[in-house]
Amino acid sequence: MSEQRLFRSIYNIENITVEYIMRNISVKAVNNVSINIRNREALGIVGESGSGKTTLALSLLNLVPSPGKITSGKLIFDGKIDVLSLSDEELRAFRWKQVAMVFQGALNSFNPVLRIGDQMLETIMEHEKVSKQEALERISRLLKLVRLEPNRTMKAFPHELSGGMKQRAMIATALLLNPRVLILDEPTTALDVISQKYILSILSDLKKKLEISMVLLTHDLAICTELVDRIAVMYAGRIVEVAKMEDLFLKPRHPYTMGLLRAVPSVVGDVRKLEPIPGAPPDMFNLPSGCPFHPRCPYAVERCKREEPYLEEASEDHFVACHRWREV
Ligand SMILES: Nc1ncnc2c1ncn2[C@@H]1O[C@H](COP(=O)(O)OP(=O)(O)O)[C@@H](O)[C@H]1O
Ligand code: SF4
Ligand SMILES: [Mg+2]
Repeated sequence: MSEQRLFRSIYNIENITVEYIMRNISVKAVNNVSINIRNREALGIVGESGSGKTTLALSLLNLVPSPGKITSGKLIFDGKIDVLSLSDEELRAFRWKQVAMVFQGALNSFNPVLRIGDQMLETIMEHEKVSKQEALERISRLLKLVRLEPNRTMKAFPHELSGGMKQRAMIATALLLNPRVLILDEPTTALDVISQKYILSILSDLKKKLEISMVLLTHDLAICTELVDRIAVMYAGRIVEVAKMEDLFLKPRHPYTMGLLRAVPSVVGDVRKLEPIPGAPPDMFNLPSGCPFHPRCPYAVERCKREEPYLEEASEDHFVACHRWREV
């Protein structure tokens, strides 16, 4: 049975390829990626830096910056909106109201000379015809939801908030127009461990209280355990494994996922057994032939150098792109 029929999806991503095209060279940062974001799920997208997470997320908003370009594929939102054919005006509304994103390094995306409350108010008033009173009530409700004191936060200038508080205000801002999907790109990376934990517990709270799907992009598999229902693992612009979180942790099927898990302290238990994945991340301008993981893979055989593996269903709701998943 197709995934479509088993689970209602809010966003269908079909065979998306994104290329950065420079004068005499181009790089496929996202290569033929298909995945559905399901209603009310939290989906983790995990991969080393450079694996294409941010580019994929930007493509979901049709916001890939030049020289990047979506060169193939389809994006269907809510079963009917063909995102790649929206006009500029329709896209502007789509980006806040349907899919909102907290950008990587968002801590500095507030305007430093405006109070947080004014910036949030402007965002609502620009997009919706509501009274100021109604808008202020919404802002206050969302700030409380991210555990910030509404009055004080609204009066504050960005520099008056700590990194963790700014990130929470950023999340509240992304939620201002009640989006159906919230994308968070490395939301905890710049924060200390305690603020990280706090943000994750707020996000898991939001997921319970709001009817929303979340997409969490991170290089850190351990972050996912706190929040996500499913994980997609990216390598060299491809999704190489997708499964429910528990399934991926207990029965990983792709050698790269296995390597990632061996490098996570909370999974390994004993820090002395931590093993980094051998070899360097791939050179995106000069990818290996066949399976792009083959130079680092302990299971690689001749076929892996010649033929690229594609995602296949290894067990229910568990997909893997590896020629040797049955044996490894
Ligand atoms: N503005 C850009 N110009 C050219 N290449 C880029 C640009 N941004 C990203 N890339 C390429 O796309 C690849 C994926 O980058 P990115 O999506 O930022 O990955 P991640 O978020 O997983 O770190 C990078 O390895 C890089 O080669
Ligand atoms: S296809 Fe081959 S090289 Fe790639 S992950 Fe599987 S075994 Fe390793
Ligand atoms: Mg990134």
